[in-house]
Amino acid sequence: MSDDALSNLLHEDRTFPPDPAFEKRANVKPDVYEEATISRTAFWEEQARRLAWDTGWDQVLDWSDAPFARWFVGGRLNVAVNCVDRHVAAGLGNRTALIFEAESGDTQEITYAHLQDMVCQAANALTGLGVVAGDRVAIYLPMIPQAIVAMLACARIGAPHSVVFAGFSAEALRSRINDAEAKVVITADGQFRRGSTLPLKAAVDEAVSHTPSVETVLVVRRTGDDVTWDPERDVWWHEVVDTASPEHEAQAFPAEHPLFILYTSGTTGTPKGILHTSGGYLTQTAWTHWAVFDLKAESDVYWCTADIGWVTGHSYIVYGPLANGVTQVIYEGTPDTPHKARWWEIVQKHRVTLLYTAPTAIRTFMKWGERLPDDYDLSSLRLLGSVGEPINPEAWMWYRRGIGGDTCPIVDTWWQTETGAIMISPLPGVTAPKPGSAMTPLPGISAAVVDDHGAPVAPGNGGYLVLQQPWPAMLRGIWGNKQRYIDTYWSRWPDVYFAGDGAKLDEDSNIWVLGRVDDVMNVSGHRISTTEVESALVSHPAVAEAAVVGAADDMTGQGIVAFVILRGDNTGGEELITELRGHVAHEIGPIAKPRQIMIVPELPKTRSGKIMRRLLRDVAEQRDLGDVTTLADPTVMNLISQGLAAAPGDDA
Ligand code: WTA
Repeated sequence: MSDDALSNLLHEDRTFPPDPAFEKRANVKPDVYEEATISRTAFWEEQARRLAWDTGWDQVLDWSDAPFARWFVGGRLNVAVNCVDRHVAAGLGNRTALIFEAESGDTQEITYAHLQDMVCQAANALTGLGVVAGDRVAIYLPMIPQAIVAMLACARIGAPHSVVFAGFSAEALRSRINDAEAKVVITADGQFRRGSTLPLKAAVDEAVSHTPSVETVLVVRRTGDDVTWDPERDVWWHEVVDTASPEHEAQAFPAEHPLFILYTSGTTGTPKGILHTSGGYLTQTAWTHWAVFDLKAESDVYWCTADIGWVTGHSYIVYGPLANGVTQVIYEGTPDTPHKARWWEIVQKHRVTLLYTAPTAIRTFMKWGERLPDDYDLSSLRLLGSVGEPINPEAWMWYRRGIGGDTCPIVDTWWQTETGAIMISPLPGVTAPKPGSAMTPLPGISAAVVDDHGAPVAPGNGGYLVLQQPWPAMLRGIWGNKQRYIDTYWSRWPDVYFAGDGAKLDEDSNIWVLGRVDDVMNVSGHRISTTEVESALVSHPAVAEAAVVGAADDMTGQGIVAFVILRGDNTGGEELITELRGHVAHEIGPIAKPRQIMIVPELPKTRSGKIMRRLLRDVAEQRDLGDVTTLADPTVMNLISQGLAAAPGDDA
């Protein structure tokens, strides 16, 4: 973000006080902050009572082995029973849980009673395949009801799932399966995308040829396309799940039983397996979903547009909303299929009341035509949420006016894969938000902006975002790597969690999250590490060295720009650049494809050999170069600029 843009942002003084009618009916009242301040643990204990426990806890928080937290110690519960069975038991079996909107426009409604049967059948089938509590199951599925059923079935039998976004490559899937040593992979023959089908099982076939732990691949038939079949290893979902018994006795697991592993990019080339457990995670996802979205489960229709491959899909499609007994829309397809107003058509069709999406989507819709939604009846909407990256005030204002009819409160929610649940956000009916600010930590959460020495900054200043106290949904570690957890999050300053984000405090002590301060890029709300893309590039035989930066991008937040030095007498050219982009897509997935690849003769390095990314960012964002005096060879930037003048661009 340029300095000008930043100072404009911080002088944003528009505020949007709650509408009195909304305020009157709001789930939370202003005194909730006060209540949580009196006793943070008592506050979370009260929220944990919203769930059904088989055995109560003896201790709310055990922080004696910090930074490894244990919440609700001694308590036992079954997460899937909390998300499904207890609603049926409460007489809500006929309530719609999922409204599945296929890309084709077909709709399928699944009630809580039906969902219970499906989850029990899948639990029985997984047990039949030899999966027992503690075994890991990888899930590589598109946005179809079976994805949610698969996750809940794993939770039901205590088998931690590792969902891998179906847009990731076979290679990315393979490394994640191996890291978690998954026993079963659940996938589909393929998925619908923009009116045609894309294969999925082929990637699984490629991945599992190098994954010794995998015994079974369970395949949902979605597209009907031909697949290659290994009868020793592959089984059809409709043959083993749909025919299984819908009777299943669920067992309760300890509050700290692992619920899932979700891989996210860190600052090295190897993704981190973020580990989440059961009781604390479900407590915070359920409470925040109820409070931040002002959920009225009996009348709301909620729609979160995320994919289950990301944490937002885990916490705010599956666990939080279903624990609250919500009725929600899930959509299989892309926003522009078959036309660019598809989302607004879906809101109108299903009378969606609560919408949760990402700034990159909002900016895309603005580009497609700010008046496009006007042709649809969006009057059912009563609250809008944003997540994944900073939302610029222009997008915030359009979201409120163009989509929210100038009445819907907007909740800009800051959180991470690691935090498991929302941490910083306005509370609707209570907070008067400013466009672009995530405002203040939620009740029961402590966050601060600190300087280089770890001291909290005064209002009006910037620094690093940290969390000072443990919270129920916090990660419990990195799968198989205790030390990396301590080093990454807890070592910058004593006893505080370093989120990796830069932030500013405004004069009223509201938090403005500015984006990552480490080597992690945020592209369309997806975290991708520069090192991961660099490793993918140098694994291509034509590449000697690569440096990757995230350059500001109006649409996607950041765009990936790569600087590449070729080996020997490779000369570059359009064809090689296309090949390199394809290579990155193959190694990681299409989302990691560089927006631009520049072939350069040298990279700017300090005397100690560290690449000066700041200078590369200046080049990528077409700015005048900053200070170059620390370069080992200050003439290298001239070489790069000359080389760029000669190198073919690639903006595809
Ligand atoms: C960024 C997504 C500003 C931030 C839930 C964070 C945000 C990273 C916001 C986590 C927001 C998320 N305002 N930045 N409201 N929400 N971020 O793990 O940089 O995919 O560290 O979790 O997204 O991304 P992740």
